[in-house]
Amino acid sequence: MKIEVARHSGFCYGVERAIKITEEANLGENSIYTFGPLIHNEQVVQKLEKSGIKAVDQVDEAQDGTLIIRSHGAPQSVLIEAETRGIEVIDATCPYVKKIQEKVNGFFNKGYAIIIVGDSNHPEVVGINGWCNNQAIIVNSIEDAEKVEDNGPTCMVVQTTFRYEIYEKILQVLENRIEEIVAYNTICAATSKRQNAALDLAKRVDAMIVIGGKHSSNTVKLAQICAGVCKNTYHIQTYFDLMVHFLEKCDKIGITAGASTPDWVIDEIIHKLEKADASP
Ligand code: F3S
Repeated sequence: MKIEVARHSGFCYGVERAIKITEEANLGENSIYTFGPLIHNEQVVQKLEKSGIKAVDQVDEAQDGTLIIRSHGAPQSVLIEAETRGIEVIDATCPYVKKIQEKVNGFFNKGYAIIIVGDSNHPEVVGINGWCNNQAIIVNSIEDAEKVEDNGPTCMVVQTTFRYEIYEKILQVLENRIEEIVAYNTICAATSKRQNAALDLAKRVDAMIVIGGKHSSNTVKLAQICAGVCKNTYHIQTYFDLMVHFLEKCDKIGITAGASTPDWVIDEIIHKLEKADASP
């Protein structure tokens, strides 16, 4: 059995940075809280919990400590509330997401309507919307785009992990419906690189394993992309989920992982595959 890991997979810059910032903050005296789970990966969140770092949903739950803003970012109101309450904040928002928030805030203050292409429930989108007074129109599909009305000059941004092919089609629809639209393709390069590498690998293997949290939007998208070209695609979270007997007749297995999947989780899965292959 040959195992090949996609050229771009696993932790992205923003996630790695947020974890480093949080771990460093935890070396100090203060209790550390993260606004929501730091990343969409249960193993990492459990590990952080064991070291005393707690995820909270409300700002006031961090009253006695330091609040970390995760890589997805947070609405402006969270920062304002923390400041009002005198809670120390460490902002670990990914710099690429921060740029989107600033763009949206700037255009909103100039009177532009804001469109965010992405999933309205995703924390990154919720966060960005919070920088334009929660007044953005969220478009997640071509059907959504077909319902958008022209509200005058409009600024459009995209969730960093959105699928480029769908974004392109949405943009076409919106450009036909809105007279003045300033569109920024804010899909993160790490996302497109990961998606292209996964697609390329999935085309060449007998089975594809996609590793990452079930709530991780970028991992779910990787699994969808791989499943489109490789019917034996399995989205798993840890080596516990790996059913090796499904892979018995496979000569070549491809592996990719979402942006919030640490290397040690990937390594454990490779190890299990190698062990199964070596056993008679
Ligand atoms: Fe940032 Fe891109 Fe990762 S936006 S959090 S580096 S996927």
